[in-house]
Amino acid sequence: MPGTPGGRCVWDPGIWLNGPMELAEYVRRLPKAELHVHIEGTLEPELMFELSRRNEIDLPFESVDELRAAYDFTNLQSFLDIYYQGAAVLQTEDDFHDLMMAYLERAHRDGVRRAEMFFDPQTHTERGIGFDVFMAGFGRAMDEAERQWGLSSALIMCFLRHLTPEDAMATWEESEPYRGQIIAVGLDSSEVDRPPHLFQDVYEQARSAGLHTVAHAGEEGPPSYVISALDDLGVERIDHGVRSVDDPALVDRLATERVPLTMCPLSNVKLRVFDTIQDHNLKVLLDRGVKVTVNSDDPAYFGGYVLDNYLAVAEGLELSRDDLAVLAKNSIEASFLPQDERAALIEEIKSVEAAV
Ligand code: ADE
Ligand code: ZN
Repeated sequence: MPGTPGGRCVWDPGIWLNGPMELAEYVRRLPKAELHVHIEGTLEPELMFELSRRNEIDLPFESVDELRAAYDFTNLQSFLDIYYQGAAVLQTEDDFHDLMMAYLERAHRDGVRRAEMFFDPQTHTERGIGFDVFMAGFGRAMDEAERQWGLSSALIMCFLRHLTPEDAMATWEESEPYRGQIIAVGLDSSEVDRPPHLFQDVYEQARSAGLHTVAHAGEEGPPSYVISALDDLGVERIDHGVRSVDDPALVDRLATERVPLTMCPLSNVKLRVFDTIQDHNLKVLLDRGVKVTVNSDDPAYFGGYVLDNYLAVAEGLELSRDDLAVLAKNSIEASFLPQDERAALIEEIKSVEAAV
């Protein structure tokens, strides 16, 4: 992949013949915030095999190639089944540290300056791995990344919506000693038939405790789930939100209220929300005035990190350099960074634009 040393080539390099390094380098230099990435979804097959050996856990695959070949998804659920299975190799504080470090190092290479990352505590606590284990591992790596690269990062605790609201509330209570390490709560996993309003009580608790709130909505579910996330959960950002286009009044509302959508183009193609990247509605929503951002979701499973996602939409949707700078600015503005830090990064984006 142009401009992503060490990354796998997911796009035909031929498409970049008219100055490939230039565009990739431009996007890499734009300061960006990644606002939609599941840390468990950054577990690359190589690390999965290493951890399975380290922890003597059998994987139902003989090799990295065989595992990658299984990443042929038909919808969100077909992915989640494999994703939860993969997370079983994560056992010790060092495992969570190594996972986090690998992602932050990769994000740094893509020009990410701020990462707000989801983690799924229930995926680990239901296997007997406690908050003390994963929070310590995550925290150590995040501190190292800040020291080494000045990369700012934060954690968003997601509730698994296929489990019950009571499970979510128990997880919220269990997280109490670690609240200082958590910037926001989120809602993920299987969406259809699990409307956001079911989780109203736990979101109320999180908001009262001063945490930010986000939720996955409108990935596979209807626009009414986006409305429920906004009105019943009071969220500040919608994760995905692509199905909002089916309700023109909702699109107008998102634009007027400047509600950020954290979109994940390569994920949407891999999970067959759109047939091809050319069919993605990111540009349509951007042109309608919605505060769209570009993110990677589960990059180890979907074949691309954040820079790959920017380049995929740049090529597939014929985005201009101005569009790409707007997407980067949107990501910074939509982040939970303090206002002065956001303003400084926006100034840096302007200088990158001016240098072209
Ligand atoms: N968990 C990990 N990736 C997800 C996605 N794309 N949608 C919902 N839950 C997820
Ligand atoms: Zn997601």
